[in-house]
Formats: sequence, C-alpha cells, structure tokens
Amino acid sequence: MSSSLKAGFIQFAPILGEPETNRKKSIELLSRASEADVIVLPELANSGYNFKDKAQAYALSENISESPFIETLKEMAGINNQFIVTGINERDGGKLFNTSVLIGPEGILGKYRKVHLFLNEFDFFEKGNMGFPVFEINGFKLGMLICFDWIFPEAWRIMAMKGADLICHPSNLVLPYAQQAVPVHCMVNRIFAITANRYGTERKVTFSGRSFMSDPLGQTLCSAPENRDDVQILDLNLNLARQKMITPRNHALNDRRPDQYHFMNQSIDLPE
Ligand code: ACM
Repeated sequence: MSSSLKAGFIQFAPILGEPETNRKKSIELLSRASEADVIVLPELANSGYNFKDKAQAYALSENISESPFIETLKEMAGINNQFIVTGINERDGGKLFNTSVLIGPEGILGKYRKVHLFLNEFDFFEKGNMGFPVFEINGFKLGMLICFDWIFPEAWRIMAMKGADLICHPSNLVLPYAQQAVPVHCMVNRIFAITANRYGTERKVTFSGRSFMSDPLGQTLCSAPENRDDVQILDLNLNLARQKMITPRNHALNDRRPDQYHFMNQSIDLPE
C-alpha cells in the first residue's frame, strides 16, 4: 500500500428537482479536484433531499446503470484517474434507496445503501439492505456511510473490524453534532473519515455545510465554510489508520470484550 493518499470533499448545494443543474455543477467542481485520488460528493447529489412526497422522490430517482449523473461521474473519474464517491437517489425496480456509489477510472466498483434512515426519509426510501461493505482499492480499504448513519457506533466499528482505513461519508447534515462526533468515531476506531456535506435550505430544512476530514487521532484536519461551495484535498498518511495500539498494551479493536457485551441484539424500552 502506498502510504499517502490525496483525498478530499466537494461541498455544494444540490437543487431539489434540478438533476441537470446538479450534474453540471458536479462537473464544474470535480474539475477543481483533478489532483485527488479519492473525492467525495454529498448525499443525494443528483436529486436534492427534502422531497415533497414519494411521487417527487420517485421522479427524481435514477437507476444506477442508466443514470446520466453516474455516467458523467464515470467520465470524470476516467479523465482525472481517480475514485469518486457520491450520494444518489437510487431506483431499483419500484423501490428507492438512499445510496452511495463508488466509481473508479474503470467504472462502478460498488455501492452502499443507507442503513439508518432519518426522519421523513422513511416515507421515500427502503432501509439499506447490503450491510456495510468495504472495498479494497490500490492496497487500501474504503467504506461508506451516509449522513445520519454517523450516530451509530456499530456502523463505524464493523467497518473498522473489516479493515477500513477510510470512511467516505456523503451527507446532508441537519443535526448540529456530527462535526463533533465523527472525529471521535475516527479516534476510537483509528480510521480516517471524509464528510462531504451540503449547505443551503430546501423547503424549510437547513443543512449545516462545514464538510470536514478527520484523522485516526480524532483531529479535524480541515473544514469548509457553512454556506458556500468548497473543494478541499489533503494528503492522508494511511499508515496512521493501521496503527491500532492506543498504549503499548491496549489495542483499539482487539481489546474489545464481546463475551461481556450482553444485550447488544436487543431494543430498549424506556418509560415515557
Ligand atoms: C440525514 O441523514 N440526511 C440527516
């Protein structure tokens, strides 16, 4: 594995119901990211987020194998010789998924479907049904989460256990905490993350911008402004994600005690 990876995010404000505008905007911003080996776009970058109803969500969905948006990103990945991760409103048969696609210079390498849906997303999307795949590219391992997935430590842990070095995290963040919490998930799992967020307001829902990258020690390496387009790319030393010793006697993953972790498969019932 080459230890250094140029990786980054694209932050923009996809426009609800204007896939062609979003496609063109993605080309413009990807042209500014030609040096990146890995570049991440926001959640639902093709369609926008806050659909009026299921009919609108459906009308704005795309089958990945026939998507003009994905075709464009395949071309850009080839031109820039890079890997692109993007959120997309995916149609599969009659069902919709909030999906993240991994595209390389040779085409599509895989996808992840959002497991933990947020608020009104339950009205539009099926819950993700592919678990948490990890992809090996050029000797390093890449996993994907989508926005609200960030709040579930299990999602980060399982990908760290599968050897992920870097989590790409297309987002449309609404709650104010992810910028604080994601670096902590990185610290406890000793991995990198790239959160590519959107900004702007859509039908009264405001997104928080401030896309960022976090390292395995829990540091925020860089951060975007709250309210405008941004492209940032950094050199990541992936060797840091392979150093799982917290002290000479404490391993971040192997010191877990699953024999003591009862109740993990249960729901809890709290009094109202
Ligand atoms: C979110 O999961 N898009 C808030």
